[in-house]
Amino acid sequence: MAASILVQGLVKRLGKKLVLDGLSMSAEAGTVVALLGPNGAGKTTTVRVLSTLLRPDAGRVEVCGIDVGAEPRRVRSMIGLTGQFAAVDGILTGRENLELVGRLYRIGRADARRRADDLLERLGLSEAAGQLVKTYSGGMRRRLDLAASLLIRPRVLFLDEPTTGLDLRSRIDLWSEIDLLVRDGTTLLLTTQYLEEADRLADSVTVIDRGTMVAQGTPAELKEQVGGDRVTFTLADPADLDRAADALAGHGGKEPFRDRTRAELTLRLEGGLDTVATMTRELNEAGIDDVVHTVRRPTLDDVFLELTGATAAEAADEANERGTRARGRRGKPSVPDRNGAGR
Ligand SMILES: Nc1ncnc2c1ncn2[C@@H]1O[C@H](COP(=O)(O)OP(=O)(O)O)[C@@H](O)[C@H]1O
Ligand SMILES: [Mg+2]
Repeated sequence: MAASILVQGLVKRLGKKLVLDGLSMSAEAGTVVALLGPNGAGKTTTVRVLSTLLRPDAGRVEVCGIDVGAEPRRVRSMIGLTGQFAAVDGILTGRENLELVGRLYRIGRADARRRADDLLERLGLSEAAGQLVKTYSGGMRRRLDLAASLLIRPRVLFLDEPTTGLDLRSRIDLWSEIDLLVRDGTTLLLTTQYLEEADRLADSVTVIDRGTMVAQGTPAELKEQVGGDRVTFTLADPADLDRAADALAGHGGKEPFRDRTRAELTLRLEGGLDTVATMTRELNEAGIDDVVHTVRRPTLDDVFLELTGATAAEAADEANERGTRARGRRGKPSVPDRNGAGR
């Protein structure tokens, strides 16, 4: 299959900052790729280059085989874009917003209307279609935004953090809608800080950190790459964390990961449950008696941890501390399946 999105060695500076440092990624036609990375990693910048809003400084960037720098207008005619913040207009109704998009793209009035009604219906907005968008909830705005970007039946759709800031229920609803809407041949590039979102929607995931690709593969491949089950020990007293980590040195191939807020140590489980029993005994021998353990399959967050040395949540916090542009609201990345048995 042909690549709908091709990025090779993309370099982009903004001001003095080298935001994209030789990024490479691609998406086969008709698939969903997730660009996963913490706040400040360069996801929005990548989407802006791909959607012709920014010119690449170096590298090869093609959408449907067309060079974005050389023929931006041709690229624009093939793509849809939904930004990180809802772009719909509050003083128009839902339907009026879609009609406006239809006019901007010069779709015939009747055609636009039919398509708008269809999308409003499929996104559960029919009843609210005549209401002013300023009365919509965050989830409704995102759905309208999605409808707006799908109105022109783009061959490639970019969704920049489509569910950031939504509550879990709305996020899950939107995931199924995105899933249904894109399964008709559209190539979707979605950026996200949510590991679950990439896991749920993407055929392939590109993990980026500080402007470069750090891993690429299907969610299953990425999880396999980091190997076996994970075991987490939750201690009664966070002050015991370092001592507990010392007691477990020699297990898991590397230093256990310390989560000080949760008083948890996580490490790779080499061997079976008898190893957990051995580790528990070693903790007890070190004077740490009150521990609870959970064993689970690796999640994408473990992938992240292996690759970047931080969990997605920590990386996001760090990026914010490094002085990422102040934003009105910030989605907290979630850490999925911490205690669950895995999927
Ligand atoms: N106009 C700009 N000038 C300078 N730096 C910028 C500009 N826009 C973004 N950046 C920086 O580029 C980095 C990546 O930004 P962005 O692509 O928005 O990341 P993400 O979408 O992954 O959170 C951030 O560190 C951000 O502060
Ligand atoms: Mg962004």
